[in-house]
Order: sequence, then C-alpha cells, then structure tokens
Amino acid sequence: MRLSRVVIVAAAALLACSPAACGSSEKNADKQAAAGAADNTGALIGVTMPTRASQRWNGDGENVKKDLEALGYKVDLQYAEDDIPTQVNQLENQITKGAKLLIIASIDGTAMTSQLQSAAAAKIPVIAYDRLILKSPDVDYYATFDNYKVGVQQATSLLVGLKLRNADGTPGSAKGPFNIELFAGSPDDNNATFFYNGAMSVLQPYLDKGTLKVPSRQTDFKTIAILRWQARTAQDRMENLLTSTYRAGLKVDGVLSPYDGLSVGIVSALKSNGYGAAGQPYPVITGQDAEVASVKSIIAGEQYSTIFKDYRDLAKTSAQMADAILKGGKPATNNDKDYDNGVKVVPSMLLDTTIVNKANYEKALIDSGFYQRTQLQ
Ligand code: GAL
Repeated sequence: MRLSRVVIVAAAALLACSPAACGSSEKNADKQAAAGAADNTGALIGVTMPTRASQRWNGDGENVKKDLEALGYKVDLQYAEDDIPTQVNQLENQITKGAKLLIIASIDGTAMTSQLQSAAAAKIPVIAYDRLILKSPDVDYYATFDNYKVGVQQATSLLVGLKLRNADGTPGSAKGPFNIELFAGSPDDNNATFFYNGAMSVLQPYLDKGTLKVPSRQTDFKTIAILRWQARTAQDRMENLLTSTYRAGLKVDGVLSPYDGLSVGIVSALKSNGYGAAGQPYPVITGQDAEVASVKSIIAGEQYSTIFKDYRDLAKTSAQMADAILKGGKPATNNDKDYDNGVKVVPSMLLDTTIVNKANYEKALIDSGFYQRTQLQ
C-alpha cells in the first residue's frame, strides 16, 4: 500500500515535470528571482547580432539598442560578420564586462553552449532574438516572428504570382503545370526549417497533383539549403540549375526564395541567362525581409514579393522582455509549445508578418513609416 502510494506520487511528479523542462523552469524562476532581488536600474545588456552585411540586422541592432536605452539600460551591441568564433568571443566579453542580460541573434544556433553555461552560472538571463538558440537549457525566452507562417506566406505568394490562386484564397485563372525551383535558408539557422516546412505545407499538394513541377528534382531541405544565407551561393546554384536542367527551351516559372539576399543572387543568375529581356519574363520570385534592394527590384518587376517583418516591433518586444526579467517579472509570451530547442521548449513571443508585392508596398512599407519614399527610388 505504502509502496504503491510512493510509486504513484513519483510517477505524478515525473509526468508533471520532465527533467529538462522542470530544471529549466526552475532556472528561469531562479534568474527572475535573482533579477528581482537586485536593482538593475541602468544595468548593462549585451546584444549580439549576426552580421552587418544584411540590411535587416543593422535595423534590428539599432532598434534594440534604442529601445533598451529608452528604458534606462546601457547596451553593448556587437556584430560578428557571420563568423561563429567572433560571436562566441563577443558573448564571453559581455559576460566578463558584467552584462546583466544577453539578447542573442545567433549565427549557428548550436555553437554557444559553453558560453551560455557561464551565463547561467552567473544567473544572466538569455533571450534568443529572431533565431532560436539550440541544444542548450540556458536560454530563457525567445522573441521572433511566426516563422512557419512566413513559409506559408512565401508559398502562397508564389501561387498567387503564378495565378494558381487568388489573393483571397480562391482558385486562380491559371491551370499550370508550372516549373518551379526551391531554395531554403542556412541549415544551422532553426528558422530555415520552419520557413521550408511552412512553404512545403502549401506547395506539396500542387506538387503531388503535378500542377507544379520541380524539373531539377531538388526538393529536400539539405539539397536546397544555402549555408549562411549567402547571395553568391544562391546565384551559383541558380546558374547551375539553369545550365544543367533548363536547356532546350525549358523555362523557370517560379522560384521559392526564403530571403531577399538570396533573391538578389537568383535574379542576377536569371538575368545573365536571358530572363527579363523581351519575351522572356522573370519567373515569380519570392523573398523575405523587405530589404531596400529587393523592394526596388519588386517595383522594377524583377522579384515578385517579399515578407515584411517589422523589426521595430521585434526590437520593442525583446526590450520589454528584458525589462520585465530584470525587474524580476515574467515577460509576456504567446507560444509555449512550438519552439523546442532539443533540450527544452522555449517560451516564445511570435509576431505577425505581411506579404508585400508591387500592389501593396506603399501601404505596408511607406505608410507604416518603415521606409521613406525616397529610399525606394
Ligand atoms: C533568418 C531571419 C530572416 C532572414 C535570414 C537571413 O534567421 O529570420 O528574416 O533575415 O535569417 O538573414
């Protein structure tokens, strides 16, 4: 009798609390308590961003800094030019300098486990910014966009551009079949898989029916992934596809591109192979981030669409998270199930995103104050 009660109680404890999840929520509470006990007014916050080479991260960094400073914090903002050891050193420096919280947009989501251990030992809370930090228990919160939805939107916009679907979701006027090629993001960035899975959830039924065809047959994530989101790599892959698969009059009708930087490379490859000239229009090419070069390309009729992620909101969200934690509170989250980093499910705040094309860029990007009209001319 006594033994079975013990077993039941033990089993209930196990059910309520897997070791990783339980340990980490205790740690969270611990850090929050530590933060609450201390006076963190004017504390130093370390912010690390992947690279200055992409327009968006410059905007993210500036906005996070500005928002944290407006809340009275000091900020150490670092960029690592997509070099993993550099980012790791930056984190070590920030811990040594006495940062009370870290906001990290990682290059490789798995590469900083031991630095995060040091942060945890010093009770320094960590917020993953835009990209999830993987395989570590020492990440407390995640501020990002709805990454799966981004992929759904990219694929939806590809279908709309091909006229297989109307923007309101009804069937479009075209019947197909259309030739498309697929690109995915960097395999060490957790977001890339979310974008891919979201996009494939929309495209797969069309591929199954034969309305969409991928003549290269390159559809699996590993084959189509572009390491570090490099434009040049995407351009080379597109060139190779054009020379290997698209000879003898075969035309590309659509390209699923997960990021504007890649779309720029893809457009270049197509241009040097005769697309964009009279009688040979560009395929429908998607993107993400609404970077200036790509919005101009959309206005010029080269790239078809992008996904607008308003990093002003993401910056504000992460600054508010940081502030709540440093005051001993619990930041708001809206998704506590989807972002499993391999060790724990990280409580996340997901922000919304918008499909942008030639028809709505003024409303989405200029009226919202994200860009001045002159920046896009
Ligand atoms: C992803 C991010 C995208 C894009 C890409 C390349 O992690 O979510 O918005 O910026 O990196 O930088």
